[in-house]
Amino acid sequence: KKDKDKQLRTPIVSVLGHVDHGKTTLLDKIRKGRVTAKEAGGITQHIGATEIPIEMIKNICKDIWRKEVELPGLLFIDTPGHKAFTNLRRRGGALADLAILIVDINEGFKPQTEEALSILRTFRTPFVVAANKIDKIPAWQSPGFVPFLKSYSMQEDIAKNRLDNKIYELIGKLYEFGFSADRFDRITDFTRNVAIIPISALTGEGVPELLLVLVGLAQRFLEDSLRLHVSGKAKGTILEVKEEKGMGITCDVILYDGTLKVGDRIAIAMRDGVKVTHVKGILKPRPSQEMRLESKFRSVKSVVAAAGVKLIAADLEGVLAGSEFEAIESEKDIEEFRKRLEKE
Ligand code: GTP
Ligand code: NA
Ligand code: MG
Repeated sequence: KKDKDKQLRTPIVSVLGHVDHGKTTLLDKIRKGRVTAKEAGGITQHIGATEIPIEMIKNICKDIWRKEVELPGLLFIDTPGHKAFTNLRRRGGALADLAILIVDINEGFKPQTEEALSILRTFRTPFVVAANKIDKIPAWQSPGFVPFLKSYSMQEDIAKNRLDNKIYELIGKLYEFGFSADRFDRITDFTRNVAIIPISALTGEGVPELLLVLVGLAQRFLEDSLRLHVSGKAKGTILEVKEEKGMGITCDVILYDGTLKVGDRIAIAMRDGVKVTHVKGILKPRPSQEMRLESKFRSVKSVVAAAGVKLIAADLEGVLAGSEFEAIESEKDIEEFRKRLEKE
């Protein structure tokens, strides 16, 4: 039975894949942003976070949107594909409720595709495969931001055959890694088969179906009763520790469970134990804005998981990116947090 007083959790969707296969470009398409153009050398070097409200997803899906869903939206996590950033890919993978594994359809599997896949397997994260850059398939004619099936139906046989062959190669590769996969429109049970959605992050082809399949998976994930509502203590991961003008040391975090309020005491994992401090301010990026580049944060009294926010707190010296934190009320909570850290 659903409890109206409880708040639904926003699922976290991490985007993983080999360098330059189009993760940030895909997110730019969804959020109508230009993050990719601002990256040094065109390389993502941090974990990004963008909250996409469900209305925005509905607008992209338009005609193919079928049913009402209860999700408030999705929190997308961007990760770097460059080989130097294995730790950030793992962190992005660890945070994910669901994931998009993005593969350049013309290049196929690459080393960091395989690494991302093994991270997803380790965490048992449900995922879909976005077979990106279909607009670059020779003879493919892009009609613009339309569903994949519409675009596909308009293609010459030669382009259709090229795409089909590339998809079969991906299915074969996924099979080698122990996953049964197929093109999304041939799948009936999305919990047993990995859906491959051909897309172009540049033109938008296929992005409506990608979002529709994700929302379907997310809804199923939320219906898993244990994870339906925001529950228990506020828990999160620190992404970056930054000195901000007029605020001192702040940190960008992903809150992945619970509700965090200004005034809450939190315990932060340190290299040699636990630091206890309290939350002096919570700054929220606007919806559809990449947190890393946001300049107009809103100061809020509380925030509900999952969310990417900037925290202002006392005594953040020595806190490291990647550290876990948890809201605490008593000495016992600190002890439990210590025990959780030891286990991990
Ligand atoms: P890292 O974060 O550095 O791993 O890269 P990424 O996976 O985020 O890829 P990014 O979005 O930076 O895209 C790399 C290049 O591919 C950019 O020049 C994009 O414009 C281009 N690109 C991405 N998606 C597509 C697509 O669907 N079609 C075409 N033609 N180019 C694309
Ligand atoms: Na890139
Ligand atoms: Mg990127």
